[in-house]
Amino acid sequence: MTKGKQSTQLLLGPTPAALIACGDGNEQNIITLAWVGVVNSSPPMVSISVRPNRHSYDMIRKTGEFTVNIALAEQVDVVDGCGTISGRNLEKFEHFNLTAAAGTLSYAPMIRECPISMECELKHSLELESHTVFIGQVVSSYVEGDILNEKGSIDFERCSLLGFCSGNYLKTAPLNLKLGYTLKK
Ligand SMILES: Cc1cc2nc3c(=O)[nH]c(=O)nc-3n(C[C@H](O)[C@H](O)[C@H](O)COP(=O)(O)O)c2cc1C
Repeated sequence: MTKGKQSTQLLLGPTPAALIACGDGNEQNIITLAWVGVVNSSPPMVSISVRPNRHSYDMIRKTGEFTVNIALAEQVDVVDGCGTISGRNLEKFEHFNLTAAAGTLSYAPMIRECPISMECELKHSLELESHTVFIGQVVSSYVEGDILNEKGSIDFERCSLLGFCSGNYLKTAPLNLKLGYTLKK
């Protein structure tokens, strides 16, 4: 084995570099998060891990709502921008020419320009040392028709989604192998 020991243990990736949108009735905001995951299937639930000093934190906590919006690789400028400037100093929807799209939630908008959006209702919070893990139930999800194949699944030949690992942005590329393909060999 030639693997060398690393100083960081957080080598779990790639993850999405997702745009999380929130609002509180007075303002709407977007925060980029890489610490995002799927945590339950029925009901469908996702986790997001947010530092308490983020401007988005109180909005999510108070309203119990957020949306997870998955960006295309070509939207990396927006994702990096939303992850390096705080909504305390910038109205991000306006600055990045993004459209807040209303869905079924009362406060958190979706981002129309992202090809995938999930509306989430906060169900659990776990306060860890540096971050709080918010677990949200996905109450509705939307996919841009242009990236779907005839069977209604995401066609990764038609889109490259944005990912993140070890401080670097990545993009998806299909292997064209389906789950369970080895059973058919
Ligand atoms: C690629 C990327 C991933 C990030 N992931 C996280 C994360 O998982 N959790 C977090 O609290 N902040 C994360 N950040 C930092 C926030 O996005 C950043 O501090 C942002 O400006 C906070 O916005 P807000 O103050 O408007 O809420 C990430 C930033 C980038 C660029």
